[in-house]
Amino acid sequence: MPLVDMKDMLNHAYHHGYAVGAFELINLEMLCAVMDAAERARAPVILSVGEHHFDDFDVQLLMPAIEAAAARAQVPVAIHFDHGKSIDSATDGIRLGCNSIMVDASHLNFSENTRITKNAVAMAHACGISVEGELGYVPQAEEKQCKASDELAYTSLAEAKAYVERTGVDCLAVSIGTVHGRMKGKPRLDYQRLKQINEALKMPLVIHGGSGLSDSQYHRLISNGVAKINCFTGISELAARKLRESTRGTIGISYSQIQNMSKAAITSDVEKYLRLWGAAGRAAEVLSQCHIWQPIEQLLIYKPFAEQGLHLSTVYEVQAVLSRIPGVREVHVSEIMDNDSHYQYSWIIKFCHPEAVKACQTHPDFQSLKRKLFSPLEDNTLNLIQQRLAPRSPELTEISLKVAF
Ligand code: 13P
Repeated sequence: MPLVDMKDMLNHAYHHGYAVGAFELINLEMLCAVMDAAERARAPVILSVGEHHFDDFDVQLLMPAIEAAAARAQVPVAIHFDHGKSIDSATDGIRLGCNSIMVDASHLNFSENTRITKNAVAMAHACGISVEGELGYVPQAEEKQCKASDELAYTSLAEAKAYVERTGVDCLAVSIGTVHGRMKGKPRLDYQRLKQINEALKMPLVIHGGSGLSDSQYHRLISNGVAKINCFTGISELAARKLRESTRGTIGISYSQIQNMSKAAITSDVEKYLRLWGAAGRAAEVLSQCHIWQPIEQLLIYKPFAEQGLHLSTVYEVQAVLSRIPGVREVHVSEIMDNDSHYQYSWIIKFCHPEAVKACQTHPDFQSLKRKLFSPLEDNTLNLIQQRLAPRSPELTEISLKVAF
């Protein structure tokens, strides 16, 4: 299960002078292509889903495939929620299986960006999730051509120090001349600015708009603290080009052949970058030095105040309330096969990370449920429930059978 903490992964890259590729995915072929490349290169890799692409694919369908790919990978993988539009959407991203988030407020002024990012960090860190912040604005290629002064959008050193201190982000995306999408002409990068930010912050830096730079530009970025390079345009254009080439003048080519050609092209491109950025061959080291990401399930049983027990509609209402708490991924209602009407139902809660259990217990919605509906169980009742439930529910053997309150 080599899903790992992205913070650990990036700290490893930062301290060993290489960068991890964060490849944005919009379909299954891209996912398989990126994973094949990472396995071939024995490289850690970040699988990104970007909220700005959600009109192009169904994230609820793609995320289970991304999680499954990470779970069976031999190389360390992190799953990142990129360019989140709000804390709520990032919370949804965590619910779907992302173990790192970005809430992008970089288009707003410094104090608004700081305020929103600080709140995102409070929510995410309470659930064990790492956070990428962005300060300065990395424009879309089309915007850059008509901007009067690009300098205004670059990351300022003084603001970067204050932003990191006030927000507590785990890595920082900087604006030093790259753009999202394909820029006309060669991007000119402000290495001096990057160097100063790196020397002041000493933390992993992130480059958005990582497609289409030269080998030497990548090397200079990495030697000045860049530990994560985001990439989408390059692989997307390549896949589209392969698609056009493969259908030009060819009669009878099948859809799966076209798909395989695009996928093979992406794999070799991604592998090239993993090698160029120094991530190749690092998988074993990273796995041995990073926290393996471990979701946790817990069983929640309460003794209701009401003598007659809980009405089924209340049981499902509790499920709905619990499901919305940050860090909770799934909640299942389970019936307790017991004559004692007080303990007819329980809730099996899947948390994204052990930290999220504490966050849930102290969450105001959880506290209010507790006050309204439940009284604490006595210790001997707990033991009884554990004894009765464990043998009956073999599926619970892998979870921590615990009553949380
Ligand atoms: P490119 O458009 O250069 O591939 O960058 C993608 C990106 O930065 C996503 O966050």
